[in-house]
Amino acid sequence: MMEIHFAPLQGYTDCCYRNLHNRIFGGVDAYYTPFVRMEHGELRKKDIRDLLPENDNTGKLIPQVIVKNVQELDFLVSAIREMGYNRIDVNMGCPFPMQTKKGRGAGLLPFPEDVEKLSYYINDNPEVDFSIKMRLGCTDTRECLRLLPVLNGTRLKHIAVHPRIAVQQYKGDLDMNTFEEFMDGCEKPIIFNGELRTIEDIDNVVKRYPNLMGVMIGRGMLMHPSLASEYVTSKTPEADELLRLVLELHSGMYEHYSKTLQGDSHLLMKMKIFWEYLEDLIGHKNYKLIKKAVTITKYNAVVASL
Ligand SMILES: Cc1cc2nc3c(=O)[nH]c(=O)nc-3n(C[C@H](O)[C@H](O)[C@H](O)COP(=O)(O)O)c2cc1C
Repeated sequence: MMEIHFAPLQGYTDCCYRNLHNRIFGGVDAYYTPFVRMEHGELRKKDIRDLLPENDNTGKLIPQVIVKNVQELDFLVSAIREMGYNRIDVNMGCPFPMQTKKGRGAGLLPFPEDVEKLSYYINDNPEVDFSIKMRLGCTDTRECLRLLPVLNGTRLKHIAVHPRIAVQQYKGDLDMNTFEEFMDGCEKPIIFNGELRTIEDIDNVVKRYPNLMGVMIGRGMLMHPSLASEYVTSKTPEADELLRLVLELHSGMYEHYSKTLQGDSHLLMKMKIFWEYLEDLIGHKNYKLIKKAVTITKYNAVVASL
């Protein structure tokens, strides 16, 4: 059975969103934390809160880390294991120069010898199940092919592949030819990630690559939070039912953030982000009104009118 993973999206899929999504929509086999990193020799408090198992109600959360070397990996793995997890995903896809320039995220892809060092660590720590989320390359799609010998020798649950290079960020053509070449040479289960927005998109990729372990969906889930459950159940909610469910998700987020954020302006900012990918659902006019709301009262009035 094809698995559906909800891709990590920094700023969107935090613990509150994941818990609510899982309860209201479901259909997802695995959620991920947005990447956590070592900062000034420790984990950020915000990241710890997002990771803590007692804050996760999904029971299918995979913590994701971003690292440049074994020292950082060991620090994060130890901290996350201590919390009680035995599952960790390593980010080798983040395209932001802030990370890649330091050799993290997609910045690891051009350096097989650095990935190999991480691989030794992974193989030496069998009590943790690891996976990797990667792109085809940082500046060149061939980078992933040069990594195959190392990846094939690493103890990995799966590799999630987004068939772009880092400089493309999240736009532009997917290089399916290189993805296929990579898949042919890869002995690990592969999860496809990229531009899946509709049931048809999922069906097409599954038909084209029947050996996939699953698909990972990011923005498509933010735009259409029922996508995974529709795929699994073959049932499509009516438009007004979908809106009702999204508003339920919204209420949960609003309630949570009105308790945890200081001040209306922070709450307003955070809640505006909630709608960022939902323009199609609520219509252009409402979307613009939300964007333009300058006070939480105005914002609430627009949401109440939906
Ligand atoms: C706003 C934003 C934040 C993201 N944050 C992360 C992250 O923390 N970790 C990660 O591995 N990928 C991150 N990604 C990449 C997504 O997980 C995913 O790979 C990418 O959006 C492509 O999949 P999609 O076309 O289904 O959205 C992020 C993407 C976006 C747009």
